[in-house]
This record gives sequence, C-alpha cells and structure tokens, in this order.
Amino acid sequence: MKYSGYAYIYTIGCQMNVYDSEKLGLILNSYGFERTDDVHKADIVVCNTCSIRHKAEEKAFSFLGRFAKIKKKKPGLIVVMAGCVAQQEGERAFVRLPYLDIVLGTQAFSRFGQHIDAIKSGQRRVVDTRDAPMIYEALPETACMDENKISRFVTIMQGCENFCTYCVVPYVRGRERSRTPEKIVQEIRLLAESGVKEVTLLGQNVNSYGQKEGEISFPELLFRVNDINGIQRIRFATSHPKDLSVDLMVAIRDLDKVCNHLHLPVQSGSNHILRKMNRGYTRETYLDRIFNLKKHCPDIALSTDIIVGFPSETREDFNDTLDLLREIEFDSLYAFAYSDRSSAPAARFPHQVDETEKRDRLNHLLEIQERYTEQKNTGLVGKTLDVLVEGTSEKKREGFDPVQEHMEQMTGRSESNKVVHFPSDQANIGDMIKIRIKNAYPHSLWGYPLELETK
Ligand code: 5AD
Ligand code: SF4
Repeated sequence: MKYSGYAYIYTIGCQMNVYDSEKLGLILNSYGFERTDDVHKADIVVCNTCSIRHKAEEKAFSFLGRFAKIKKKKPGLIVVMAGCVAQQEGERAFVRLPYLDIVLGTQAFSRFGQHIDAIKSGQRRVVDTRDAPMIYEALPETACMDENKISRFVTIMQGCENFCTYCVVPYVRGRERSRTPEKIVQEIRLLAESGVKEVTLLGQNVNSYGQKEGEISFPELLFRVNDINGIQRIRFATSHPKDLSVDLMVAIRDLDKVCNHLHLPVQSGSNHILRKMNRGYTRETYLDRIFNLKKHCPDIALSTDIIVGFPSETREDFNDTLDLLREIEFDSLYAFAYSDRSSAPAARFPHQVDETEKRDRLNHLLEIQERYTEQKNTGLVGKTLDVLVEGTSEKKREGFDPVQEHMEQMTGRSESNKVVHFPSDQANIGDMIKIRIKNAYPHSLWGYPLELETK
C-alpha cells in the first residue's frame, strides 16, 4: 500500500545500524513516507536499536518511553522498535512499552512494509523475530540520496559465529552470511556514480567474508572494489585477529585505494582473560600478527577495542592489557567497561568485577592511551597528508592566521582516519587535497593546504 506522511528514524549503535537505518528509510519512502528530522511531525517513528551493552539497550527503552504520552495525543502514530533489542526481546518488549505497534527483529526488514499494512488495517500489534537467510538483497538498493555525502557504509556480511562469551551479536544477528561479490560491486558502482568517494565495508567479522560460501575471499573482494571507478578510498570494519591473513596484509599494502589503517580489536592483553572470552588467539599470536603486518605495511595506523573488568579479571590481567598498549602504541582505541548481557555466557561466570573498580580501570586505561594518541598525532606535525574533504567545521582553531580570516574552516580525514581541520576558500566536499600539518591536538590535527602555504 502507499501512504502519505512523515517518518522519523532514530539510530543507536554501530555503523551497521546506520546502514540498516538507511534501508529502513528507503522502505518507508517506497510506502509513501517522507523522512523528517522533527520527531513531532512524524506519523511513524522507528528506533533502530543496539543491545551490545546495557547502556545502549536502556537508551532505546528511554527513547521509546517518551511515546507513552505522545501516542495518547496522537493515537494514529505508528511506533516501531527495530534491530537488536527487538530481536532479543520479541513479545517481552510490550511489558515496558505496551503501546509499541511493531517489534521488527534484525532479519525481518523485508517484511516491514506488510507489517505497516497490518497495523494500518487495524491489527493491534506485530512481532517479527523470524530468521532470514540474507536480509540485504531483498531490500531496496542503496543509492546516494544525500548529495553531500561522499563517504558511505556498505554491509557485506551479516551475523557472527565466533561466540565470544561476552557478546550478544551471534544471538541477535544470527549466523554468518556473506553477500555475493556481484551484489556488493553493483551497489558500490551505484554509489560511485552518485558521487561517493569513500566506502567502508562492514561486517561483524569482515575479514572472514566469503569463508563459508567459498566464492571469493575478503582480500579478493578488496581487489574487485579497488577497480571501481570513482571510488578513491576503501575502509573496512571490524576485523578479527584470527582471520588476519598475509593475503590481507598484501592487499592493504598493494591496493592504492585501501587505507593504511586497521581496526583490530584485541579486547584484552591477558591470556587468561582471552581464553575466558573465547577469542581464539593468545596475546603472543596477536602481537605476532601485528609484527608481521608492520613488516608488510610499516606506517599502518592501528586502532583497537578493549573490554575492562571482564569477570575474573584481576589487577594483574589488567596490567597485561596496559603492557600490550605500551608495546603496540595504538593510534586510538575504544574502551568499554564489561557489561553483563543475559543471553551471553559470561553473565553466568563467577567473580564479577565491582562497578567502581571497572570505572577506575577504564579511566586509567584511557589516560594511558591518551598519551599515545597525542604522541602519534604530534609525530605528524610537519608531514603532508592526503585529506578527503568532508565538510566545513564550525570552530575556528586557535592560531587561525588572520590572512585566512575570510576563509572557511574545512574538515576531512587522513588515510589513517585522523580528523584534519584546515582553512580554505577553494576546497569542495569530496576533494582530495594535500595538507601540511602544523598543530596536533588530542583528537584532531590542524594544517594548511599546500597551495596556500606556498602563496
Ligand atoms: N560489554 C562491554 N563491551 C562489549 N563489547 C561487546 N560486548 C560487550 C559487553 N558485553 C565491545 C567489544 C566489541 C565492541 C563492538 O563492543 O569491545 O569489539
Ligand atoms: Fe561479538 Fe566476538 Fe562476533 Fe565480535 S567477533 S561480534 S565480539 S561474538
């Protein structure tokens, strides 16, 4: 059916959810709904949820909780919980949110339209948490709708079956399934034709792409994407250390569009904890792979994820993690306090770590990492970086030369994924320009375009 009205989509969580929300938006468009940024104008509200940590889950309940009142005033409003929390909770979602109309699990997106029809024709509630073999091919094709967007996500696989003991993903996103290389290439070609310059290939375990299907491997996929005209940069996330093959190292080294940056979550530097987490590698094998990677790609930027306070993590285990950070000197990291997820086995592990102890460890770790991040950034002062221009930024940096006072402050990213600000009255979004770095800050760099410097 075709309706008319406005749709508001609120996305919580990872990059994959951003991609999924785009798909939900396209489905709503095809049913006649126009996107709005004003929640009060909406006729249908979708919260695309994340259940990776307790906080993300609570954010979904608190956002949707606001609609108890709103729905009383506007009974025709359709309220949808989509994604991981929907998949996990199913019928239970109504206990806290009795006025929800649709609970749309992670693999139910292709049936979203028919559920809207059901609600519109008087059905009280719909819950759909059924599995699907591959969700993306049944959904509308992503084309670049927003002309200013030069960087887009493309999900290339769904699900995960590594079963890390702290993680809900295998339970809420299902088993690992990869899209065909043809579909991926076709989607990226379309994006390139509409002006996209950078793509980030997404998956929970992106470097195990195609292993089950046996068609082509992840490095082979990178070769194919590298051949697409118009695309200038390729990123990918998230990689698992156990699948970091020499072929992938070679692809990063040899393919001109693949960025010299790898996000490789280590989670812990302690073998005892890594074993309990079921990560499938030891501290030594992780270090060995990084060593080998640096042999192939000496200047590669590295980032990682760390969990502190996993059940039974002692001070000694935590110190092993700090030592690992000192040994590798990551460019940046994401650190999280362990959060109990009832469907993941670690929730039933003994010796849970006290919440204040987790906070202390988290702060301590972040403090140590800050030094390395700053050091890495400072090391770039005086260097010239290729920056893909993403937009203008509001705040003019200290030291902004009065000669450039009339110019805009632009912002972009280096190949190593660092945010770079610079003055320019010529750069356009989507340009790749050379910036000489003058100043380093904890979370960004500041410099001048080469042409400006020589004037
Ligand atoms: N508690 C804390 N952090 C978690 N992550 C995944 N599950 C949990 C959990 N239960 C973190 C991991 C992962 C990142 C996406 O989220 O570090 O790499
Ligand atoms: Fe979760 Fe581990 Fe799979 Fe990552 S690899 S999604 S942490 S189970």
